[in-house]
Amino acid sequence: MIERNGRNKLTRRTKALVTGGAGFIGSHLVDGLLDNGYDVAVVDNLSSGQLRNVSHGTTFYHADLNDVRLNQIIQRERPEIVFHLAAQSSVRQSAIDPVADADANVMGTIRLIAAAAAEGVEKFIFSSTGGAIYGDPETIPCDENTPINPLTPYALSKYVGEQYLELFHETYGLDYTILRYANVYGPGQNPDGEAGVVAIFTGMMLNGRRPQIFGDGLQERDFVYVLDVVQANLAAINRGHGRTYNIGTGQPVSVARIYEMLQEITEFDQEPDYRPRRAGEVLSIALDSTRAEQELRWTPQVPLREGLRRSVEYVRVSLSHRANRVGVTTERRRHRANPAQAAGNGSNR
Ligand SMILES: NC(=O)c1ccc[n+]([C@@H]2O[C@H](COP(=O)([O-])OP(=O)(O)OC[C@H]3O[C@@H](n4cnc5c(N)ncnc54)[C@H](O)[C@@H]3O)[C@@H](O)[C@H]2O)c1
Repeated sequence: MIERNGRNKLTRRTKALVTGGAGFIGSHLVDGLLDNGYDVAVVDNLSSGQLRNVSHGTTFYHADLNDVRLNQIIQRERPEIVFHLAAQSSVRQSAIDPVADADANVMGTIRLIAAAAAEGVEKFIFSSTGGAIYGDPETIPCDENTPINPLTPYALSKYVGEQYLELFHETYGLDYTILRYANVYGPGQNPDGEAGVVAIFTGMMLNGRRPQIFGDGLQERDFVYVLDVVQANLAAINRGHGRTYNIGTGQPVSVARIYEMLQEITEFDQEPDYRPRRAGEVLSIALDSTRAEQELRWTPQVPLREGLRRSVEYVRVSLSHRANRVGVTTERRRHRANPAQAAGNGSNR
């Protein structure tokens, strides 16, 4: 649908609105969209994201999803595509404050979906979770037909968002694709996020501190590299109408194994500090992404060791720049967003 919009293309580039564009995955997605010639606007309340993550060349709105100005922003920007990544993204935090989690992930998502439907957005692409939504499935890798079994408020809030999207599709014809990510990792990751283990271990190891592992370390995760996730989002622009996809590698890798691999890459010689297992933590998960391969023509491209190497390099460069008190420049090609532009759009509440 977006490609067929030839007349618009002559007068105006296709506009994409990215919520959560100052966050880990969102900021990489913004770069991917800019590289592909899209006009990009970002909505982010900077609760876990940072303005310096937002590339120059975007229009930045410092706004909450629940801000009364959300409709005005969408009316003004008139995006053809909405990528919805803004979320309270910490599983742990959702258990501590489920109401705040629901405010952002349920109420914020409903407001955004309703605004998108009202303004005739052509495609809504929703970042959901495959790492948490299936709970502890009986068999892994699990496909999209696996029963939903949220074990945390975060997982449940994402599922509710999915259901609203389906409802608005049925009722108002809003086109959508749901992407259920495995555990995303890569340069620029927030150590507090859902899959912060790579970022946390790397930061601590490079600082000579001994990371903790909760449980026996045999819990397994499916680690997918952030640029592969960006590609899945780009693939969903013109494919996967009204469909839901797992986005992962299908390979379960234990947290203890990640520790070992990062130990090798960082040349860290201390053993993990084992702590009691955390309540609600999924034991083993890996996602079967055959449907995404067949329908989105998406497959992950970056092998785990290479992705870990790039992630470590990013943290290493950031730390050395910090130590030398110079501005951080990284492989992420970041430019500080125009502060006047950000200030001009007001504060978030
Ligand atoms: N990182 C993962 O492994 C993973 C896995 C599955 C799903 N996801 C989902 O992908 C999306 C992006 O995750 P991430 O890892 O980049 O997280 P992140 O925390 O780095 O990014 C989320 C962004 O949303 C913004 N935000 C939060 N609440 C907001 C609100 N109410 N209004 C406006 N902005 C708000 C934050 O400031 C931040 O910039 C999230 O929806 C997350 O749930 C992530």
